[in-house]
Amino acid sequence: MIKLAPSILAADFNILGEQINLVENAGAEYLHIDVMDGNYVPSISFGMPVIASIRKHTKLIFDVHLMVEEPIRYLEDFKEVGADIITIHAEACKHLHKTITKIKELGCKVGVSLNPSTPLDVLEYVLNEIDMVLIMSVNPGFGGQAFIPETLLKIKDLKEMASRKGASIDIQVDGGISMDNVEDVISAGANVIVSGTSIFSGDIQDNIKKYKEIFKKYS
Ligand code: DX5
Ligand code: ZN
Repeated sequence: MIKLAPSILAADFNILGEQINLVENAGAEYLHIDVMDGNYVPSISFGMPVIASIRKHTKLIFDVHLMVEEPIRYLEDFKEVGADIITIHAEACKHLHKTITKIKELGCKVGVSLNPSTPLDVLEYVLNEIDMVLIMSVNPGFGGQAFIPETLLKIKDLKEMASRKGASIDIQVDGGISMDNVEDVISAGANVIVSGTSIFSGDIQDNIKKYKEIFKKYS
């Protein structure tokens, strides 16, 4: 089943709660929450207090994408404010295996994210330990960037790697996804689709409905 993970980075923060309700009622599976620290990536987005306050008003699965240097320092905090899935960047961890283990100990699902230029090799010895790989299809840090087409080959290669290793992982893709290119991403092997701009611009519920109609062709 293909899942949709709307990224609240593109939401209107003045009415964030209302927009999350729309996302939930329209049937999105995850809420993608982009945390940026101004160090690992140039931008600063938001952190624990925002997540804690939206947690009280929705049952959506919180898919927390940490664009944070040495995220191991904050894992308990993100668990405490309501993260269900914690995704870390392989490039931002000094000790990737240790960071993965800690997320599992906290009882969260683990995702590992790779930037566009990061090869899949870094996953070779951890792929069977994790629940999801997040393939970045833009350089992390900002919404609204253009999709990098080389990502499609990387998704295919990851799919092959996972089957060679017998790893049952979700393949999430994030950055520059729209209704025009989402089918290419799904055909390449992705099953969790992140999108900010294409969901929060215009009619949120209608956008989600259109994505779900596309997904039906692949279920
Ligand atoms: C980028 C973030 C993305 C971003 C996607 O660093 O990780 O989740 O919100 O936004 P769009 O869909 O606008 O590219
Ligand atoms: Zn993201």
